[in-house]
Amino acid sequence: MRYLALACAAAVAALALNAAQAQGETAPRTAPRTGQTAPELQRGKAVFAHWCAPCHATGAGLAGTMSLEAKYDGSVPAALEDRTDLQPAVIGYFVRTGVAWMPPFRPTEISDDDLAALSAYLSAPLADRGAHAPLLADEMVRARGSEQ
Ligand code: HEC
Repeated sequence: MRYLALACAAAVAALALNAAQAQGETAPRTAPRTGQTAPELQRGKAVFAHWCAPCHATGAGLAGTMSLEAKYDGSVPAALEDRTDLQPAVIGYFVRTGVAWMPPFRPTEISDDDLAALSAYLSAPLADRGAHAPLLADEMVRARGSEQ
């Protein structure tokens, strides 16, 4: 019985997601950013591109960006790279602890030095961050057919 309820819940969720996608609600709301990344932020940007962008980039259909869009309803940007309110300690907390579908990352995956660089990147002035990190998961998103 419990499995039936779970299956029903999953089906309803899938339908809701399809409906949202049909209406284009998962489209990114951030414009692409251009410009150079400050040299001291490049390491943090690379860490972001590798570990975070697959869920948090500006593209459509990404778990982190979609969740934060729903959570804040536009009061802060859905894409982490466009946020200016995140302090390094907050970023470090989420990276080591995880939240919802976001896994915690171990120091063997993201070292303390990499985490410091990542936090510096995500809390630097927007102009110093330069263009958004590349979405390495582009191919995956396209294959799923949810790129808009
Ligand atoms: C598997 C997907 C996934 C990955 C990979 C991921 N996240 Fe997340 N992250 C999420 C989701 C989903 C949420 C939103 C959970 C919620 O609804 O509160 C989130 C939330 C966050 C938040 C909280 C923001 C807020 O205002 O509530 C921060 C900070 C964050 N992630 C940083 C990162 C960083 C930095 C990385 C890379 C090291 C990363 N995440 C990797 C899925 C992911």
